[in-house]
Amino acid sequence: MEKAVVLKIESSYSLLNLNTLGIDAEAEFFAQASSVDEVRDCLAFAVANQLLVKVLGGGSNIVMASHVKGLVLNYSNTALQVVNETTADVTVKVGAGYNWHEFVLFCLSRGWFGLENLSYIPGTVGAAPVQNIGAYGVEVKDFISAVHGIRLSDGEPFMMVGESCGFAYRESCFKQELDGKVLITEVEFSLSKKPCVQVGYAPLDKMAKEKGLPTPIELSNWVVQVRKSKLPDPVDMPNAGSFFKNPVVSTEQFQELIKRFPGMPNYPQNSGVKLPAGWLIDNLGMKGQSFGLVQIHALQALVLINNGGSSEDVLAAASMIKNSVQKAYEVQLEQEPRMFF
Ligand code: EPU
Repeated sequence: MEKAVVLKIESSYSLLNLNTLGIDAEAEFFAQASSVDEVRDCLAFAVANQLLVKVLGGGSNIVMASHVKGLVLNYSNTALQVVNETTADVTVKVGAGYNWHEFVLFCLSRGWFGLENLSYIPGTVGAAPVQNIGAYGVEVKDFISAVHGIRLSDGEPFMMVGESCGFAYRESCFKQELDGKVLITEVEFSLSKKPCVQVGYAPLDKMAKEKGLPTPIELSNWVVQVRKSKLPDPVDMPNAGSFFKNPVVSTEQFQELIKRFPGMPNYPQNSGVKLPAGWLIDNLGMKGQSFGLVQIHALQALVLINNGGSSEDVLAAASMIKNSVQKAYEVQLEQEPRMFF
């Protein structure tokens, strides 16, 4: 029997609307697969045409080159299935193409709790484990029980339990040793049926003191409100969220820095002290500064706005910011979004 829908592999495909930095990029080949079979068809096409396969998720945490060689593959499956449920918790398996915020809202509507602090993060479910998305005191690693995917080398499926994904602050094995080697098809989350809101992060704590402890749905709304007040919408101002990771410096270096900059916010860690990169940049008076087509956001110095520039323009701006921070504090900033080329 013939397949109802024939997989379409397009050539010279514009990726302009598939990356939130709004880089006018083009893929040599592009395909959107919605099933494992379609992914395998794409892999076969790539082998036959000697093309590298590059997996593209929501495009909200990448810096894209103008010309992306090979086959850019987007996995759009949004199937959602409960794989285990007790009176206390639930394990849900979700297709990688599911929009992240819609998934958070779906969980809240079903009374599955834990992800509310991660509301309104752009991107897809499949991208969440890659950089271990985190916000307002919560990281997604604490809810991921397993990651399912396909190896790009031979189309074979794999499954990894959360503990073996190498999760750390904005890190995972999918950004490291498995980078470019796998496509994530589904993520399994273990969520609680008992509400337990986390309002430790300063702006949420302030709201809780004013209004009382929120329900999980209220907390999600607060997070959306805080994010909207600080972070620009990529539709109006193309950006990739935080452009730099918050650096961790040694306790010795921190003690020197705090003498020079007594107002510097800081977050002690097991090893050293984490500093907000946004503050480091802002304190140099760089908020709102433009570097050609690329600008530091006027409200949050950690976000770069791209007004029609290329990846080279974005990287040049980032490099100047890194140099200024290095010179002022002797702190090396590390880029957060991944390169896609
Ligand atoms: N700050 C400034 N000026 C700025 C930006 C920040 O002084 O321009 C100060 C703030 O006043 C605050 C501190 O720096 O004292 C931290 O700022 P904020 O709470 O806004 O958080 P962040 O460290 O800038 C991180 C994440 C965000 C996440 C928020 C909330 C990273 C790289 N970024 O930002 O994640 O939403 O905390 O948890 O860890 C993302 O990854 O794309 C992202 C937006």
